[in-house]
Amino acid sequence: MENKDNRGTILVVDDDLSVRELIKNFLEKNSYRVLISENWIKAEPLILKNKIDIILLDINLPFKSGIEVLKENKDRFLDTKVIIFSGKNDIELAVEAIKLGAFDYVQKTDSIEKILKVIDNALKLKVLEEENKILKKNLAPLKYIKGISKFSEEIDKLIKTAARTDATVLITGENGTGKQVVAETIHSMSLRKHGPFIDINCAAIPETLLESELFGYKKGAFTGAYQDTKGKFEAASGGTIFLDEISEIPISLQAKLLKVIENKEFTPLGSTQVKKLNARIIAATNKNLEEEISNGKFRQDLFYRLNVINISLLPLRERRDDIPILLERFINSSGKDIKLSKDAIQILIEYDWPGNIRELKNFVERCTVMSESELITKDDVIKFLNLRKNNIFLSIPNCHNIMPLKEFLECKEKEYLEFIVSRYKYKKEIARILNIERTALYRKLKKYNIQ
Ligand SMILES: Nc1ncnc2c1ncn2[C@@H]1O[C@H](COP(=O)(O)OP(=O)(O)OP(=O)(O)O)[C@@H](O)[C@H]1O
Ligand SMILES: [Mg+2]
Repeated sequence: MENKDNRGTILVVDDDLSVRELIKNFLEKNSYRVLISENWIKAEPLILKNKIDIILLDINLPFKSGIEVLKENKDRFLDTKVIIFSGKNDIELAVEAIKLGAFDYVQKTDSIEKILKVIDNALKLKVLEEENKILKKNLAPLKYIKGISKFSEEIDKLIKTAARTDATVLITGENGTGKQVVAETIHSMSLRKHGPFIDINCAAIPETLLESELFGYKKGAFTGAYQDTKGKFEAASGGTIFLDEISEIPISLQAKLLKVIENKEFTPLGSTQVKKLNARIIAATNKNLEEEISNGKFRQDLFYRLNVINISLLPLRERRDDIPILLERFINSSGKDIKLSKDAIQILIEYDWPGNIRELKNFVERCTVMSESELITKDDVIKFLNLRKNNIFLSIPNCHNIMPLKEFLECKEKEYLEFIVSRYKYKKEIARILNIERTALYRKLKKYNIQ
């Protein structure tokens, strides 16, 4: 629907040439863009290359019938309405097609006006569905949970400041610290909240495609550019564009992005028409961009442009005060009536959460699903946390970060002993697991003051 004069794109698949031509002419007169194909095999490439709103599908096709097509493509047609074109004698098949997800059917004997009416209805529904999707997204309750730590207070202030302005925001933090949630929260509190929130993961899109995804392109701009296509900058118009994993943007594209931010305009590939950028930019990364800069992988000037408001999210292990409230809020929103025992909470506060808030959220989910009683105990927690050796040995102790090796080893030894003691009741058993003499165990417990 890239051309404003078009009401939508319709693909007519029918083996009868005269039917195809007739319908094509009629629909084109009624401002539709029409593609035609004599069978499904030839229709496939058209579907791949074009954004199709409606497929008018003959039920009796050679090679593959309309019903077979529907059966094979159930999930694929979510955004495309299929209207079955049936002969007089296959109404039963048409009904089956509707069960398989077709929008409606028309008969070849129907007047062309009636066919047009069904097509118009399908398009109306499609537009409504799309609007509804956007509405739902905007109405979704705020997912952001504010912690009680000093750090959380500061982040909260930054989010509010960012929401009041249109400045570019750079959010940094380890995986699972909530970068996306913060970006969405800023958007939903900002003046642009009724506009779209478009996110693009720069790491997930191949380098060669990223530029066209962002800027959009004109038909013929490169091989495979079959029609004018809007980029994300344009799609985000009136709203926010969230550039996730910004460190993964190739250096050549970084220069172009810098220009977009500086000039607040962009030009789709193959076009001469400069377009205004009307979107707030929020970027995020879990990498240290300053390091990337010194390694020559990220442009310093782009970094400064992005980093107007900096929100740097601490890993959960450095804001342990927030753990209890996050647990409580996630449990509440699960709707399940479960509680954590005091010593269970204690373990969770001490745990390092390498996957940060995402891991905590998953943990609560596991509890709500797997727990057999309403009270989650310390033992349950150990079980649900999947505490593995790796977690214990690889995590850096939270005491201090830099220390003599001996101190580090003692720190780890203490941590591991505490873990084992929390898990097993009898000293004899513990000594056996650790493969040390019981007297040695007592000495160590005393040394580290472990009860
Ligand atoms: N403050 C928060 N309140 C509520 N949920 C949160 C919060 N922070 C994170 N989450 C939840 O934790 C999960 C991870 O958050 P999010 O995707 O925002 O992290 P991220 O920093 O973008 O992670 P990644 O680097 O892996 O992309 C999501 O399910 C999100 O809903
Ligand atoms: Mg993310």
